[in-house]
Amino acid sequence: MAVCFQTAVLLLTLLLPKTSLSASPCQPSDFLHSKSNKNCDQSNGADCCKAGKSYPIYKNSPPVTAHTPAILTLNCFEKNCDGGGAAACDSHYHSDNDLIVALSTGWYNNKKRCGKKIKITAKNGKSVLAKVVDECDSMHGCREEQGNQPPCRCNIVDASKAVWKALRLNTDVGEVNITWSDA
Ligand SMILES: *[C@@H]1O[C@H](CO)[C@@H](O)[C@H](O)[C@H]1NC(C)=O
Repeated sequence: MAVCFQTAVLLLTLLLPKTSLSASPCQPSDFLHSKSNKNCDQSNGADCCKAGKSYPIYKNSPPVTAHTPAILTLNCFEKNCDGGGAAACDSHYHSDNDLIVALSTGWYNNKKRCGKKIKITAKNGKSVLAKVVDECDSMHGCREEQGNQPPCRCNIVDASKAVWKALRLNTDVGEVNITWSDA
């Protein structure tokens, strides 16, 4: 009886801080501690790393289905636009007029989706095919080469402005719920 109770208390103390953390659909794999305040380009609605703050990192993303829920964010894939560096799939920069996306680490899946198309569907019923060219790194962040931004969340489709336009979405909104599937 006593052992059972202790186990229950241990389980609760292990689980509670994580489940009450946020509405993220994923459990953090760990936390990254930012040691200094970092400036970053906030034109795409980005959050900059702050000293003493902890940021969750995610090894996995939610399972991919025919209607995978995700958050669409705006990314710039061109040279010198937000210090984000070249695309992870091919180490090249790309035009923001192309229908291209970066996926959270779990969905990027060690380059396995590189060059593949995904179908993105907005709540307004519009859909578009876009090519995976980059990773939205959920394991690292707060570094110069990633524009000093916190690690990516686990459920992000970080898309070019051409994707937003094709979906008839306003880039000023910054974040929109969408669903996607492998095309
Ligand atoms: C987006 O989806 C999340 C999770 O399902 C939900 O909590 C949130 O309210 C949604 N936001 C909008 C603007 O619909």
